[in-house]
Amino acid sequence: MIPEPEWLLFEPLIADIARLKAERNAIILAHNYQTPEIFHGVADFRGDSLSLAREAAGSDAEVLVMCGVRFMAETAKLLNPDRIVLLPDARAGCSLAEAIGPQDVRELRRRHPGVPVVCYVNTSAAVKAECDVCCTSANAVTIVESLGSRSVIFVPDQYLARFVASRTKVEVISWSGHCEVHQRFKAADIVEYRARTGAYVLAHPECPEDVQLAADYVGSTSGMIAELAARRPGSALLLTECSMSDNVAAVHPEITFLRPCNLCEHMKRITLANIRECLQRLDPQVEVPEEQAPRARRAVLRMLELTAPAAGA
Ligand code: 13P
Ligand code: SF4
Repeated sequence: MIPEPEWLLFEPLIADIARLKAERNAIILAHNYQTPEIFHGVADFRGDSLSLAREAAGSDAEVLVMCGVRFMAETAKLLNPDRIVLLPDARAGCSLAEAIGPQDVRELRRRHPGVPVVCYVNTSAAVKAECDVCCTSANAVTIVESLGSRSVIFVPDQYLARFVASRTKVEVISWSGHCEVHQRFKAADIVEYRARTGAYVLAHPECPEDVQLAADYVGSTSGMIAELAARRPGSALLLTECSMSDNVAAVHPEITFLRPCNLCEHMKRITLANIRECLQRLDPQVEVPEEQAPRARRAVLRMLELTAPAAGA
């Protein structure tokens, strides 16, 4: 995945990061959307937002470096209040997390009294603090159904909300947020790609509804990886952030990946250079204000409890 001349540039940074990790007793968590030199070069744990939250909860390292975006680093901090959590670029945000604020959730509760609120993990800690439980795209249906309510408020992603609604009898009251990256995929392009290449099409549930309908499989980033491993198509089109195809292609050289590239500019703020720098300086650290932390932590822990893997699984 990494051409020789680029590798020569990356190699000294990777060596420095390995040394700093040992000195700081640090681990690096990398989301599936990180570039291959981070994902395969320095990460100790790799995965979707749910598995990174689980890894963060089980860690005994003194320092956690989140190669992802702010809400992922906040989740790690909520689960590890006494450890240092670093986000290599403090500006790495998320358009979904920006789509709703705590006041919006309070207003939804006022309009729908007694209805539980499920928030996507792609939200700020301030929003999580207003919710009953959070979820990721890997467990959204399970979480919604576990509440035993005839209706739930589901924020902020409108497309994930519709994905959930299509798989449950629970009434889903949604919000108008969307991801700026997945919004760019168009159903007409997918139909054309498939007609020309016969590729197996996998979409993230943050894609618009018509894109999901045009796909062969819809699921979280970990769901897509599992589906590819099980099905082993000759060629595949992943309708999600660009780097994921690079990372999965390294593991499945037998699959040809088509790459209509949509980058998440927030994920791409993380680089080997700023990972090294943050480990040197122990900065920028992510903190969650004390008035939000206990309630936000409760929403994350409830999700982990409701979806705990069975013993021995
Ligand atoms: P996953 O939970 O599927 O990893 O997705 C996170 C995300 O931000 C997708 O855009
Ligand atoms: Fe947020 Fe979209 Fe980037 Fe995922 S891809 S981190 S939802 S902006």
